[in-house]
This record gives sequence, structure tokens and C-alpha cells, in this order.
Amino acid sequence: MAINLLVIAYFLVLACFTTLSAGNFIRDAQITWGDGRGKVLEGGRSLSLSLDQYSGSGFQSKNEYLFGRFDMQLKLVPGNSAGTVTTFFLSSQGEGHDEIDFEFLGNSTGEPYTVHTNVYAQGKGNKEQQFRLWFDPTAAFHTYSIVWNPQRIIFLVDNSPIRVFHNHETSGIAFPKSQPMRVYCSLWNADDWATQGGRVKTDWTLAPFVANYRNFNINACASGGSCGSQSGSSSWQTLELDSKGRNRLRWVQQNHMVYNYCADSQRFPQGVSIECKRSRF
Ligand SMILES: *[C@@H]1O[C@H](CO)[C@@H](O)[C@H](O)[C@H]1NC(C)=O
Repeated sequence: MAINLLVIAYFLVLACFTTLSAGNFIRDAQITWGDGRGKVLEGGRSLSLSLDQYSGSGFQSKNEYLFGRFDMQLKLVPGNSAGTVTTFFLSSQGEGHDEIDFEFLGNSTGEPYTVHTNVYAQGKGNKEQQFRLWFDPTAAFHTYSIVWNPQRIIFLVDNSPIRVFHNHETSGIAFPKSQPMRVYCSLWNADDWATQGGRVKTDWTLAPFVANYRNFNINACASGGSCGSQSGSSSWQTLELDSKGRNRLRWVQQNHMVYNYCADSQRFPQGVSIECKRSRF
């Protein structure tokens, strides 16, 4: 009897520890390409990706999710990172796929990274917004988050909202809500377009380029529908911006946004998409 209780207590304590601990790359992710260029470090607490002239590398989550909050800490390629692209995104598979993107476009030494965001629903993207960060993303780890619930998608940087994409299905705009998605991360070469429109090429004498990931935290619903909150918090399910969040978003968009598809009438001469008119912040 006493032994049984001890065993039960042991497992309860263990369960608490596992649910409270941050995501673990060994348990939650797998390196899928790059032939040894991706490395799990610190017993699964961090992961590094590298890129040289032969290949980049990448990993993905083991599970698929339908709605959730996905946090990742990243330290980007330092120095001359021109031509490199570091990613953290969600994607479903197959035709008419859904996707929610964070992409970090490298730059020459001292020039700012561009944070590229996009949303695809049923295969249709063309919803890019780009930002400059208000800190050096190569000097330390910073947290990048995607909150995805049935009402909206929120992109956050160190918990500051930088973009909100609302569900405007009632106006005929597709919204990702029925295809489960996996988390994908990669470091690859895109010097044909990434930096200053492809004018600045990757300097391979500086290879390997390395980006670091840590504190991968998933708080999401499994594709089967169960939404066990892994680390206790399920506030993402109804998360929307309060007035403080809206002020912060306005500050980011007014001071740090460098491209907005909603304002690109040259590219969309027939008029911008409906959600641009409906969602003022
Ligand atoms: C790189 O820096 C240049 C000059 O500051 C800037 O115009 C460009 O948008 C930056 N980012 C990329 C990805 O080219």
C-alpha cells in the first residue's frame, strides 16, 4: 500500500515536471534534412542549424496541431548574414495548404534583418508584412510567437504583437482552420532574392552560418482535437488584443513596418484584399 502510494506520488511529481518544463527538441522535434548540419544540444534544450555552400538544414515538430500557441527563442546568424534565410513557420501538407510564416532575411554586417510574415489559406498567400526589429536579433535570444485560434492569428516578438490577421471568412476570405499544421524551422540560402532583392550574395568564405533555437514551447490542440494545455495556460484559445496590446501593435506598425501588402496598390491595382479594409489594427 505505502509503496503504491509512493509510486503514484513519484509519477505525479514527474508529470508536473514534464508539463511545466519547456519543450524539448528530442521529445517534440526531429531534424529532417541537412546531413548532420542540424544539432540538438544541451540534452534537447537547444538546437543549432547550419548552412554552407552545399546545404542548409532544418527540423520539424513530430506532431501536427490544429490551433495553438507556438513560442520559439531564436538567435540569428551574426555578422554578414546576407543571402541567408532563417525560418520558423507552421504549415499543413498537400494541395491547397495553409501556412503561417516567420522568416528572417539576413543582411550585410551592420545592416538590419528583415522579419517577413505571411499567411496562406487554402494555398493562397500574397499577404506579406515585413518589419525591422527594435533590437539586434543576433546578440541574444528573443522570443517569436504565433498564436492561432479560430478568430485570429497573432504574431508576437518578445510578447509584443506585430501583426494580427483576423478571420474574415464571412467576407469570403479563406482562413486556416481545418488543416492541421506542423512546426517547421530551417536555415537555407536564398541569395537569389533575400537580401536587397538578390543584389547582395552570400559570402561563402564565412561559412558555416549558424542560427540557434531554444525554448520551443507548444501549447496547442492535437490534430485529433484534444487541447490538453501542456504548460497549464490555454489563454491563447481566446487571445485578442486589449488596449495595451493595440497600442503596442500600433507603435510597431508605425515605426517598424517596412512592407505591407495592404498598402501596395502597385501590386494590387484592382484594390487591396477585403481584410485590409476591415482590420484597422
Ligand atoms: C538590408 O539593409 C538594407 C540597407 O539598410 C535595406 O535596404 C534592406 O531592406 C535590408 N534587408 C534586406 C533583407 O535586404
